[in-house]
Amino acid sequence: MILPMLTSELPAALVTKRIYPEAIELLKAHAEIDYVDNDDGLSPDELIERALGKQAIVSQLVDRFTAEVLSKIDVKIIANVAVGFDNIDVPAATQRGIVVTNTPGVLTDTTADFAFALLMAAARRVTEADAFVRSGKWNRWSIDLMVGRDVHHRTLGILGMGRIGQAMARRGSGFSMRVLYHDSAPLAPEVERELKAQFATKERVLRESDFVSIHVPLNDATRHFIGEKELRMMKPEAILINTARGPIVDEAALARALREHSIAAAAIDVFEREPEVLPELLQCPNAVLAPHIGSASVDTRKKMSMMAAENVVAMLQGVCPPNILNPGAFRTEA
Ligand code: DGY
Repeated sequence: MILPMLTSELPAALVTKRIYPEAIELLKAHAEIDYVDNDDGLSPDELIERALGKQAIVSQLVDRFTAEVLSKIDVKIIANVAVGFDNIDVPAATQRGIVVTNTPGVLTDTTADFAFALLMAAARRVTEADAFVRSGKWNRWSIDLMVGRDVHHRTLGILGMGRIGQAMARRGSGFSMRVLYHDSAPLAPEVERELKAQFATKERVLRESDFVSIHVPLNDATRHFIGEKELRMMKPEAILINTARGPIVDEAALARALREHSIAAAAIDVFEREPEVLPELLQCPNAVLAPHIGSASVDTRKKMSMMAAENVVAMLQGVCPPNILNPGAFRTEA
């Protein structure tokens, strides 16, 4: 249970971008808030300047906490409003004794719902069909108008079988799909049975799947995890779905594969240089594109905001934050 702060002098906290108001209310009961009440994002210099004298930062995925930025700030906690934390150099934060937290769990099903929505949209050409009707070009019914690909009874390949990958597997088996997955190690046999999912090498997942959905975190090992070589392993009728992080896929190689029809389609929510999108990708009619909204339901975004605020409040009360990523950095004051 989180108790209200009783001291008159509240610690100071920075909130780098807009979050849901209920989270600001919670923070205000425990800290003096410097709230950047817009969506512009702070430059590294602004981040360093605004962090001065603060004990906590509520950050978002566009705030880049490099080792250099971290060396110039002196906060107790950075609470990221995201499950991904590739924007923060966590080892460097640990060295500086800065606790880092994220928002796991609350966005699992919402993100898997969206990944499946993208899969369906690409398979059944939903965005193309919508544009076609709006353009006024629809003047008759025909047997092969906007024919797409079946989802049911096809093979779903999942790369990265963490929480969101497993939620995606559940959706796949709900659609009578055969589910293959790859991760650094297989799941426990009883979990595999429950999910009706079969472990396979990355290569086999790529070669045998009709849909390949990416759910690995972004780190040095997964940058361009899907490049030209991997795309060539996929079937010409396969569809790639990425709701994880943009740099996991080599975007230029993907645009080439889509243009040359070496794969059938892609559905992409995350990009290498967000919010910029590679012009070649914008020109691919066989790509469904979304502006990084995998976790964007009202309920989930509120929960993510609250979770970050709760992590800050715990830290300010000397309690280890529930979603700490680097327990080595947590220390109570003597
Ligand atoms: C995350 O949480 O990492 C998403 O990409 C943003 O919600």
